[in-house]
Amino acid sequence: MTAASAPLPPRFTATADGRMTPAMREAWQADGLLVLENWLLAGDCQALMDRAAQLVQEKGSLDQMTVFSTTKRQQQNQSYFLESADKIRCFFEDEALNEDGQLTVPLERAINKMGHALHDLDPLFQRSSYDPRIGRLARDAGQKDPRALQSMMIFKHPHIGGEVTCHQDSTFLYSDPTSVIGFWIALEDATVDNGCLYALPGRHKEGLKERLHQGPDGAKMEQVAALTWENDAAVPLEVPQGSLVLLHGELPHLSGANRSAKSRQAYALHVIDGACDYPADNWLQRPADFPVRALP
Ligand code: FE2
Repeated sequence: MTAASAPLPPRFTATADGRMTPAMREAWQADGLLVLENWLLAGDCQALMDRAAQLVQEKGSLDQMTVFSTTKRQQQNQSYFLESADKIRCFFEDEALNEDGQLTVPLERAINKMGHALHDLDPLFQRSSYDPRIGRLARDAGQKDPRALQSMMIFKHPHIGGEVTCHQDSTFLYSDPTSVIGFWIALEDATVDNGCLYALPGRHKEGLKERLHQGPDGAKMEQVAALTWENDAAVPLEVPQGSLVLLHGELPHLSGANRSAKSRQAYALHVIDGACDYPADNWLQRPADFPVRALP
C-alpha cells in the first residue's frame, strides 16, 4: 500500500431514498464499489458507537473467559467464531490478551470486532440495517431478494487495531451464483493513518479467487482461479464519518493496521441474494428457528 497507481473511485452524496443514480450505477459496475457520503448523520454514528461500547462492557469480560483456555485455545477459538452466526460476540485483538489470558489494554480498547448477528439482536443496529435504503441499493446493485446475512462492528482502536489482508467477501460468504454485497459504514473518519479500506477497483470482474469450505474436520480453502493481487495497486478509500462504501463480493479489498492515536470504527453489514443457493458448507449457518431475514 504505497502510492496509489489507479485513479481514486468517484464519490457521491447518498440519495434521499437510497436509489442509485445512473452515474452511481456506472461507477458500481466499473469499479465494484461505490462511495456514498452523508449516508448517516453524525448523531446516528455516535449512537451506534455508544451502543457498541455498552455491549462490550456488558459482554466483554464474559467473552474473555470463554475464548481463553490454555490447553485448547485454538480449537476453542474456532468454535467460538463458528457459533457466532446467531449471537453478538466480542473478538479480541491478538495483542490484547497475554499468555495468561489477561488483558494487556483496557477492555474498551481490546476488542477487534463484534459479530455476527448485531442486525437481528440489537434494536439500534437493526434499525440501521433494515433501513429501506439498504434494500433499494442492494436491488439496484442486482440482487433480487436481498437478505441481511451477517453484521460486524469493527473497532480498529488506536495503536492496536489490526490489519485485514486482501480478500474477497465471497470467499467466506459464498452463494451459487456469488451474490454477497458488503455495506461498510464509516462511523468515524477513515484515513490512511487510522486504517481506512483499500481496494483494487475493477478487479471484481476477474471473478472469485478462493472459496472457504467448512467441514466437520475444519476449514479448507479451495483455489477457484489463479489470481494475484498487488497491494501496491490498491487505492485508499478515505471517507468522512457517515459515509457508506458498497463492496462487490468479488472486489479485492483490505485495510491496514491502526498505529495512529485515533480510532476508526465502522459497521459492516453483509447482504446476500436469497434467490441464490446458500451452501451447507459455508462457515456461517443460521439455526432453523433464526432464519436470515429479507430487507424491506
Ligand atoms: Fe471484507
